[in-house]
Amino acid sequence: MCGIVGYCGTQAATPLLLAGLSRLEYRGYDSAGVALADETGLSVYKEAGRLSLLTARLRGGEGFSQTVGIGHTRWATHGKPTTANAHPHLSADGRFAVVHNGIIENEAELRRELLDADVTLRSETDTELIAQLLQREYQGNVWDALRRVTARLTGSFALGVLYAGEPETVYAARRQSPLVLGVGDGELFLASDMPAILPYTAQFVPLEDGETARLSADGYTIYGADGEPITRAVQEADWDAESAERGEYAHFMLKEIEEQPEALAATLLPHLTADGAVGDEVLPLTAETAQALRRVVLVGCGSAYHAGVVGRQVIERLAQLPAEAEIASEFRYRQPMLDRHTLVIFISQSGETADTLAALRESKRKGARTLSVVNVAGSTLAAESDAVLPTRAGPEIAVATTKAYTAQLAALYLVAIRLGALRGTMEDGEERRLTAELRTLPHHVRELLGTAERMHALARRQQALSDAYFIGRGTDYAAALEASLKLKEISYIHSEAYAAGELKHGTISLIEEGTFVAALACDETLLPKTLANVREVRARGAWVLLVTTDPDTADAADEVLVIPQVEPLFQASLSIVPLQLFGYYVALERGCDIDRPRNLAKSVTVE
Ligand code: AGP
Repeated sequence: MCGIVGYCGTQAATPLLLAGLSRLEYRGYDSAGVALADETGLSVYKEAGRLSLLTARLRGGEGFSQTVGIGHTRWATHGKPTTANAHPHLSADGRFAVVHNGIIENEAELRRELLDADVTLRSETDTELIAQLLQREYQGNVWDALRRVTARLTGSFALGVLYAGEPETVYAARRQSPLVLGVGDGELFLASDMPAILPYTAQFVPLEDGETARLSADGYTIYGADGEPITRAVQEADWDAESAERGEYAHFMLKEIEEQPEALAATLLPHLTADGAVGDEVLPLTAETAQALRRVVLVGCGSAYHAGVVGRQVIERLAQLPAEAEIASEFRYRQPMLDRHTLVIFISQSGETADTLAALRESKRKGARTLSVVNVAGSTLAAESDAVLPTRAGPEIAVATTKAYTAQLAALYLVAIRLGALRGTMEDGEERRLTAELRTLPHHVRELLGTAERMHALARRQQALSDAYFIGRGTDYAAALEASLKLKEISYIHSEAYAAGELKHGTISLIEEGTFVAALACDETLLPKTLANVREVRARGAWVLLVTTDPDTADAADEVLVIPQVEPLFQASLSIVPLQLFGYYVALERGCDIDRPRNLAKSVTVE
């Protein structure tokens, strides 16, 4: 997704904008640009390709004295990744500059209107139309013009705007796409999300839907959709700049895999009471309301959906409630049957995924109770949900999620236990036993980080894979879904996850000599069945990695990795770790761009 930064203060803006954009590169982009303002007017510099090209052209900002500006990394939606299509975009008279994250859905209508008015358009983008419309709507007050223009837009936008007549001011507007104001000491920042500005300030104010803002040397003002000024408390990001940097790691992904023990502890421990219970803050429902629930729906995309597939099994078992996991982009269009007796849990790292947000809004419209499990404080999902259970994984920069995914599992375990306690569906002592098990997860995950060397050796042997299959049953199947995505999204190898019992119903026809199959068999009640599936694929030539908790399986596969055994409902938190490492090392051996895989973005804020 596109990245936005803005600065208004006393320092030279250009180095700050370029550094901010470099911390947003993980969002995925294909061009970059900055616009600077001073009494001589607006100056725009932009380049297709990597940010380093723009930085080199601007000599890192050396010699640029402007102290106000906006910057942008573009992830192409309308128009090819060219310099002409890169942001910022100028109005015809050069007096408005605009950067934008989102999609304007009525761009064709607006384009036609401008062309009919003989406006010369210089790009294929929807964003340029906003700059041109601002020029046409301006009658002496930028904020009025911005309000009139944004009222005509359908779709999503986060905007940064400069006006030549107010060179000390940055304007902003937001609908669905995230935007935060950073509050520094005598200086103000604008950013798509916090890592861009963390080195300068941890104080932030999120903009909410329909709001606009004016940042200038004498402070900032936020205006609501009704045009009235809004007062909103400044929040403190609990991330420091260091944690958002890569440190000594070759890739953010490896750093974040290794941060999982801390992420798990930070997510779990604040909610485990000394007497072995889960705190009531995890799920703010009364026992009566919890007992009146008829079902739980877990909604997410990608890995967040995979976490939901694990969570639903845990909730069904502990809370004795029908639970289902739904892909957000399917759920939102399916006319789901929801009411006050339905709890819908939205799972998201970014809290800005368009389909997940749309599913939340649909669920609230239908009266369902909503809870979000989200990693980014101040995100839209957090702001719009009835309740929030934060994952405290810290900033996750790599596009391929790892620590946020395992933190999501941990949060869902907490919800399941709390629901079971409220509904009285757990046996005496069960809550204490389960919370004691949760306390061991960070240690076991740290142990499994020790499989890195072995997974790297396996990755070297298997790096030329063209196809891979991950199979399992129950929560092993749920973990297989995530393991498969980890391999495919960063190494570009075709990979599928399959319910082990389903192989015989078609897909086994694809197994031939040397086909790679990873079998997860960590639930001892299902182990014999999965081992039978392993024998079936090996009989047809497959090369099998078996990840299991049973030490008596040494001859059951070509490579057997025995991992620690915990409560079967929580086992997915462990089995995924060596397979995250496997995916990472295969991609490393294949020379892939691990933190910024092709075609992918960290947060899919468009549909
Ligand atoms: C997983 O590695 C991917 N980055 C992707 O599937 C991601 O989980 C999905 O886009 C959902 O993102 P979210 O958690 O920010 O909502």
